[in-house]
Amino acid sequence: MADNTADLARLRVDYSGLDLDENTVHSDPFEQFRLWFDQVLASGLKEPNAMALATAGPDGAPSCRMVLLKAFDARGFVFFTNYGSSKGREIETNPRAALAFYWAELERQVRVSGSVTRVTPAESDEYFAVRPPLARIGAAASPQSRVIPGRAWLEQAVGTLQGLHPEGDIPRPVEWGGYRVQPASFEFWQGRRNRLHDRILYTRTDEMWKIARLSP
Ligand SMILES: Cc1cc2nc3c(=O)[nH]c(=O)nc-3n(C[C@H](O)[C@H](O)[C@H](O)COP(=O)(O)O)c2cc1C
Repeated sequence: MADNTADLARLRVDYSGLDLDENTVHSDPFEQFRLWFDQVLASGLKEPNAMALATAGPDGAPSCRMVLLKAFDARGFVFFTNYGSSKGREIETNPRAALAFYWAELERQVRVSGSVTRVTPAESDEYFAVRPPLARIGAAASPQSRVIPGRAWLEQAVGTLQGLHPEGDIPRPVEWGGYRVQPASFEFWQGRRNRLHDRILYTRTDEMWKIARLSP
């Protein structure tokens, strides 16, 4: 136990020595994200794909919650949810969002903002099919973000669906699926000593990414 603690402390000292430089970052922010994400995966952190998702309704009031990143490539960042949830209703009327990842042990944050579109039904089907049976049933049973009479009501809804689909082979509910956030900007933040952190901003101009350093 004591040895582990000592190792972790050393690890932290090492990471504090990392830097992020506008002259050496990848010219493509997706590649820079992939580099950092691979390092997070290798570090064994719990739920490294958890990200805060901020949306706003037509009145402009922001709301924020955690979701899990399930795929990313040059088209954007994909998460799955219920289209009828609060976030879903906000996105349908105002299809813009911001994401934030925070990996404390690496002293790193990534922010992304951009426009949001639904993934194709085929992509949602594909992901729904690989969810564990009880997660599929749970997604189908939950009218996400709606007021419900109590926990017993939800458990009964799950029980009813389990009775109808004992193998868990339930089809994807039409109101459940993925969204893709297509970035217009990225910001990579690396913690540095004395609060003199590195912040590298990528903004999209036509087909190019412009890179700038922001003051911490
Ligand atoms: C770590 C973590 C991961 C989560 N991942 C998801 C997710 O991928 N999709 C989802 O719909 N909700 C996810 N949730 C639940 C949401 O934070 C939220 O409670 C739910 O989506 C309803 O949000 P809304 O009422 O703003 O639509 C997650 C919560 C936590 C704490």
